[in-house]
Amino acid sequence: MKLSVIGCGYLGAVHAAAMASIGHEVVGIDVDQRKIDALSKGEAPFFEPGLPEILSEGVASGRLRFTTDMAEAKGAKVHFIGVGTPQQKDGYGADLTYVNAAIDGLLPYLSEGDIVAGKSTVPVGTAAELTPRVEATGATLVWNPEFLREGWAVQDTIDPDRLVLGVSSRFARSTTEGGDAGSTTEGGDGHSTTGEEVDVVAVMKEVYAPPVAKGTPFIVTDLATAELVKVSANAFLATKISFINAMAEIAEVVGADVTQLADAIGHDARIGRKFLGAGIGFGGGCLPKDIRAFAARAEELGRGESVGFLRQMDEINMRRRDRAVQLVVDGLGGSVFKKNVTVLGAAFKPHSDDIRDSPALDVAVRLHGLGAWVTVTDPEAIANAQAKHPQLNYVEDRDEALRAADAVVVVTEWDEYRRQMSPEHVSTLTDGRVIVDGRNCLDAAAWRAAGWTYYGMGRP
Ligand code: UGA
Repeated sequence: MKLSVIGCGYLGAVHAAAMASIGHEVVGIDVDQRKIDALSKGEAPFFEPGLPEILSEGVASGRLRFTTDMAEAKGAKVHFIGVGTPQQKDGYGADLTYVNAAIDGLLPYLSEGDIVAGKSTVPVGTAAELTPRVEATGATLVWNPEFLREGWAVQDTIDPDRLVLGVSSRFARSTTEGGDAGSTTEGGDGHSTTGEEVDVVAVMKEVYAPPVAKGTPFIVTDLATAELVKVSANAFLATKISFINAMAEIAEVVGADVTQLADAIGHDARIGRKFLGAGIGFGGGCLPKDIRAFAARAEELGRGESVGFLRQMDEINMRRRDRAVQLVVDGLGGSVFKKNVTVLGAAFKPHSDDIRDSPALDVAVRLHGLGAWVTVTDPEAIANAQAKHPQLNYVEDRDEALRAADAVVVVTEWDEYRRQMSPEHVSTLTDGRVIVDGRNCLDAAAWRAAGWTYYGMGRP
């Protein structure tokens, strides 16, 4: 099928390449000429495992191309909107400038029967507002939120754990189906759906034919529910992380160990161990801004109190960065002034070069602000970090970065630090013996046995 993908960032570029890899003919469109030039050569403009391979394959096959010219969207059956929705500069709401610009730019090239599929994370109600503009062209707007994780984005796109499709309320019926592309779109109330809906749903199932054939749950719902599914999923994940970090705060007072606590409660299948990793908290381009935008939207809807807890989750999250900084200060005897502090990690999480709202980089910047000589290293994120915070010292080589460190802080749990860095080896690089494990990813006993003072987050 011919597809267009508007916006070629972390979401759109992966979506475009993944759709080409499952056999579609895809044009990716973005206003950033440099990004388009790189993508056109089959080069990924950011680090994402597996992306370079499917990009170069797609470009070489002729099924995948990139352009800045919106007119090239013409002729595609489905147009995906994958542009960013950052936090507003003067508030907590989502900035929809790019979504509106993408829709406005696309409208002249839409034809009767086309489908516009929103993937960007938007405040609930956005799709309903956009619908008249899209429908005036004879096209249909659906909302098809994305649940991909950076670092696993290719796999999450090609083989998602569920597919959600919001369709206009005039014909929406809530259904959950296994993947059989030929199955009916009959709703829970037993009424058949209209021909128009069958068509839209069938086309979207054809887009996702491989996961649908595998039996991946395909949930057809109304636009508002689809939008809400996305933000509530991220709100839940953020809440889970902040919950365990709240337990870490209590553990710190009583000398308990939050990692053992997480293991113990995680054995309860209703709770589960995933996303109970206590540490310096969540960051990135999604969770922080999404919970703020959700709270802001709930306020607008007169239901601010319903998600008032998200504000607390946000606060718990930010406090953990303070805690990590405080542990370094404590470890160095009360001041980091003129001390060498090596910060291991800059990306907001491993397997990514993304530094948007990175807790790791924030800790580094705060230590620098307290007068420490901060050296930062990261396997992938140095270029991005350097562009944003040129005041810090960056060193590519991990061991070089560790040399002469008075204190070492692990803030992104790359394998290079958690698995491939023994305390004995680091002891040969520096006389400093203070390590702060901001991700609870190191073997505390091994570091202590090697003569280090080890500080974890929520651990004795
Ligand atoms: C998140 C969601 O996990 C995806 O499902 C969603 O599609 C995506 O946002 C999005 O909205 O586009 P992502 O931002 O890639 O994905 O990162 P996560 O893996 O969720 O991690 C977010 C942050 O939480 C990271 O800083 C990570 O270090 C932190 N985290 C995660 C913890 O502190 N503890 C944990 O146990 C897990």
